Amino acid sequence: MYYQEPFRQQLHYSPRENWMNDPNGLVYFEGEYHLFYQYNPYGNDHAHMHWGHAVSQDLTHWKELPVALEPDELGTIFSGGAVVDKGNSSGLFQQEAGGMVAIYTQDGATQQQSIAYSEDHGRTWTKYKHNPVIENQTIKDFRDPKVFWHEETQKWIMSLACGDHIQFYRSPNLIDWTYQSSFGQEYGSHAGVWECPDLFSLTVESTATQQWVLIVSINDGGPNGGSAVQYFTGDFDGVQFHANETPTEAIKWADEGTDFYAAVSWENTASRYWIGWMNNWQYAGKVPVSPWRSSMSIVRRLSLQQVNDTYVLKQTPTLPDDLWDEQTQTDKSQRLVPTNDIAAFDISPLSDIQLTVGEKNSSTGWGIYFISDLEERFTVEFDESKHTYTVHRTEGMTDFSPHFPGEHTGSLHRWKVEKVHCLLDHASIELFINDGLSVSTTLLFPKGSLSRLEVFCKDQPLVLDNVNITDRVSIWND
Ligand code: FRU
Repeated sequence: MYYQEPFRQQLHYSPRENWMNDPNGLVYFEGEYHLFYQYNPYGNDHAHMHWGHAVSQDLTHWKELPVALEPDELGTIFSGGAVVDKGNSSGLFQQEAGGMVAIYTQDGATQQQSIAYSEDHGRTWTKYKHNPVIENQTIKDFRDPKVFWHEETQKWIMSLACGDHIQFYRSPNLIDWTYQSSFGQEYGSHAGVWECPDLFSLTVESTATQQWVLIVSINDGGPNGGSAVQYFTGDFDGVQFHANETPTEAIKWADEGTDFYAAVSWENTASRYWIGWMNNWQYAGKVPVSPWRSSMSIVRRLSLQQVNDTYVLKQTPTLPDDLWDEQTQTDKSQRLVPTNDIAAFDISPLSDIQLTVGEKNSSTGWGIYFISDLEERFTVEFDESKHTYTVHRTEGMTDFSPHFPGEHTGSLHRWKVEKVHCLLDHASIELFINDGLSVSTTLLFPKGSLSRLEVFCKDQPLVLDNVNITDRVSIWND
């Protein structure tokens, strides 16, 4: 099916209709990647939380399935994770081979953790009859369990967001949980509430070193306002997380755009993939789209790179090679002179743009305009001397919220920008700079159709080694 509404993204998952927020229950099982999500089946606002459901075989084409989990007497169904209980450790399955178990928050009189299991690849679910599995009478914010199997201790580990810190629990069977430790009161940003944790290990590129990464979403207090995802690297010994960073060290943000939130990763995969909700609580209820609201980011593969004495999360968009088969436009080396030269290219609202910049000795101010046929401009400016870049979102439809228009700055982990990969999809730009070492996700609502890209330079000449633009009209989502 082809979606055709204005601002409907083609490459990014969105439900056919109604409200969606956080990704939930991300797990790979027997040929399918599952994407559950916070969903209101009755309307276009955040209410009556259920788990919606979609599946994919390639992390790009998604098939929407019926709602997976509905509210009950313990409350609505808030965020959480899912695992494959391979050995039937829970004893919930008829078959020794086990099946899928979802672990989620119930938002009722208080927030408590419950589980449900599925014997038919997530199509239908049975709630555990003695829910909740973690009770709570007192703590206000106590939610978003994310569970994985910890091989070394042969236990299930749960990370849980508790207002201003993360708690870790362990269990032999997904039913009986024991509190182990807490992390975070002195670490990271505390400008808002901590939500949607995730904990996994990654190999540091070009080394044999393994590092644990603790993901924590925070709302409010993001680097450019509202919702954002911070992370810590360190060690997890099965009981406690020890951060490499000191409490006073600069906060690490996974994505310095305004529209990447509640990101979590898939369980039961060889590589680590994650996805975020492409929105911000500052204006999520007001973005001018209907009858759905809103969409997910592109799926990204995660790795770690050492930059100076710290580890930086690197994100690579996952897109099948044969996706961009409709048009390709490649331009080889050209030299731009400040300030009158520009390099201009045709684009479509669904474009993949990859720029490679040539060798240069000094830092440069340069940038990219994305321009609509109504001459609306969205600008990305690189200031290599300050190690920053700025996304200008001041044109197009912006008046639905005072928080929406603005200029959003991110950090370049290297002083030179060598490569820029932009994914444009009607109402969003995802920027992956220097192979995904700096990432920025931005929603935008141009009144016209994005049709032109221009590269400019400000103070020094700029050599564009290669510009590769591919575009499509649409892709299918069932
Ligand atoms: C994050 C969040 C979660 C919560 C869910 C409710 O965006 O606030 O903490 O479980 O959304 O929909």
